[in-house]
Amino acid sequence: MQEDLDRVLFEEDAIRVRLDALAAEITAFYSNRELTVLALLNGSLIFAADLLRRVPLPLRIDCLRVSSYHGGTESSGVVTFEEQTLPDLRGRHVLVLDDILDTGRTLHAVLERLSEVGAPLSAEACVLLSKRRPRAAHCEPRFVGFEMEDEFVVGYGLDYRERYRNLPYIGVLKPQIYCGSGPG
Ligand code: IMP
Ligand code: MG
Repeated sequence: MQEDLDRVLFEEDAIRVRLDALAAEITAFYSNRELTVLALLNGSLIFAADLLRRVPLPLRIDCLRVSSYHGGTESSGVVTFEEQTLPDLRGRHVLVLDDILDTGRTLHAVLERLSEVGAPLSAEACVLLSKRRPRAAHCEPRFVGFEMEDEFVVGYGLDYRERYRNLPYIGVLKPQIYCGSGPG
């Protein structure tokens, strides 16, 4: 797997240090309020597990399976809610967790749907990574782990065609791995 990477972008240690600080920010922001975390699957699985164990607040964890890539390295622009039923979020402070902010379409669609049908008391977003690039849909996550350039990365939950999620660090995938394969 490692041979498929161009280089490592965020080592395990750097992720650990950043998660400590991010968890402290989230804990301070919500202070003693009860929190409902909505983790977007599959990408935020490992991030959510590591982050939430550092947040000593009363909280609930729910998951939502959405996808916008459909197997390629470019967002398709269509965000699919594979599980149509949202958990009951009425009157709750909701924090949506995602692995990476790219075009912004996924988070935008989730937050919009939340406010339309979920009726939460508040809704914020937290992403591990945020790509420096223009967004196709407006989205301002309150909590961001790392800013990065517009490159395709895998590891620590992030995949290319469902592979590499179990790498303990985050790295840039060699373009020859996905060049010629086309999106999807
Ligand atoms: P957006 O809707 O374009 O912001 O895309 C967000 C989703 O696309 C994320 O939840 C990821 O699943 C996926 N994604 C975006 N960039 C990357 C990347 O560099 N590596 C792996 N997945 C990515
Ligand atoms: Mg993905």
